[in-house]
Amino acid sequence: MEFDFRTLQASDRYRLLTSFVVPRPIALVTTRALSGHDNAAPMSFFNVFAQEPPILILGIQGRSGGVEKDTTANLRRTGEFVVNMVDAGIADRMIICGTSLAPEVDELKLAGLTAIPALQVDAARVAESPCAMECRVEQIIDYPGRAIVLGRVVQMHVRDDCLDAAGRYVLPEVYQPLARLHADNYIIPDRQFQLKKSAEMLAAEAEFLAGLPK
Ligand SMILES: Cc1cc2nc3c(=O)[nH]c(=O)nc-3n(C[C@H](O)[C@H](O)[C@H](O)COP(=O)(O)O)c2cc1C
Repeated sequence: MEFDFRTLQASDRYRLLTSFVVPRPIALVTTRALSGHDNAAPMSFFNVFAQEPPILILGIQGRSGGVEKDTTANLRRTGEFVVNMVDAGIADRMIICGTSLAPEVDELKLAGLTAIPALQVDAARVAESPCAMECRVEQIIDYPGRAIVLGRVVQMHVRDDCLDAAGRYVLPEVYQPLARLHADNYIIPDRQFQLKKSAEMLAAEAEFLAGLPK
């Protein structure tokens, strides 16, 4: 089947994109509300796009009538936020944070998650999260009813048991972040396998790279 995105309704584009670009990691984004409490919301239009500079991106839709979500309003005002990764242990609490509620609501408290002050930004990080990234807003690209937020990671917290003894490599049997599939379907990466380039392809690659200007 073919779908012409120039004429397709936005809701159909959403259904197709989020059904086929899967799995999408989930950022539980925490920000500081104007009145000082913690705000939390999950975002699956999310990923990391570079390490130099260390940039991650969120796609945040507006609410009806042009009202921005609390997350967008907060990170515009403070210029800061934290991305907390989500695993099975906090999946149920992440969903609570995804409920559309008034700006006065502290979703971390509501969900029973523990807020720890971040080190470099004015937002809480979630104690139960296996990994949290403190970010400063680098750029916001505004479209009607949507903000694409580029954040620069300035600090990363990783739960000790997720890393090997040298603190270098992730332990995939421990760190198993939840990811979103279509609609209300999720997946956990508990069937991981390795895929390596053949010796022949590695040799071809080495030859090509050696020929590049130094
Ligand atoms: C798993 C999951 C992923 C979500 N991803 C997004 C997203 O990428 N962008 C978005 O605008 N809303 C997303 N939502 C909906 C928001 O989390 C929801 O609208 C939330 O109430 C916003 O809260 P806030 O007003 O405190 O920012 C997602 C919800 C869930 C449960």
